Amino acid sequence: MTKPVRIAPSILSADFAKLGEEIRAIDAAGADWIHVDVMDGHFVPNITIGPAVVKALRPYTAKPFDVHLMISPVDLYLDAFAEAGADTITVHPEAGPHVHRTIQHIKSLGKRAGVVLNPATPVDVLDYLIDLVDLVLVMSVNPGFGGQSFIDSQLRKIAAIRAMIEASGRDIDLEVDGGIDRQTARLAIDAGADALVAGTATFRGGPEAYAANIRALRGE
Ligand code: DX5
Ligand code: ZN
Repeated sequence: MTKPVRIAPSILSADFAKLGEEIRAIDAAGADWIHVDVMDGHFVPNITIGPAVVKALRPYTAKPFDVHLMISPVDLYLDAFAEAGADTITVHPEAGPHVHRTIQHIKSLGKRAGVVLNPATPVDVLDYLIDLVDLVLVMSVNPGFGGQSFIDSQLRKIAAIRAMIEASGRDIDLEVDGGIDRQTARLAIDAGADALVAGTATFRGGPEAYAANIRALRGE
């Protein structure tokens, strides 16, 4: 099942003093999803935004909010992000004691559920989740910060997960997050990715550059 590549700009690299305007600008520039990086200063060494900000931003675009939770314990906050307007909620298996239950809970809220693999997390964590998830996110950097370099070893993980998705026969998005630029976008797509998160590469150059930045990530 080959889908067109979806581009999900990470608002971590946007101007935080103008988040609403920034979201309007990336929407107009052709973003497919809006990637929201939620960090707690505990699961990852950085702190970003919570459900109140997601709710405040919701009216600025009709595009899906792709919410990446880097918080632990994660279960306490799923309802709040769902109510705030998340469309996909993606969780790390290390962020709670029962990731299968966490995924079931996201689905019970009527949201798309994603699972995210850190660079050292092996693919077999997916063995008993692939029948449930709507999205798999491969971290091609260690989570916590934008602007890091793409970790090449994740390409064979992307390829292995692509094979698992095809074998499952289910419609599952395969997204990659971290260090994505024009070159690494190509590598990730060739390995089997069909959705790309990009912070630095989307937001560099300011709003006039966003449309060209997004086209470049699509290989146009
Ligand atoms: C890292 C975040 C990423 C990050 C990507 O923890 O999950 O979404 O913002 O930033 P770039 O594209 O700059 O590597
Ligand atoms: Zn992310």
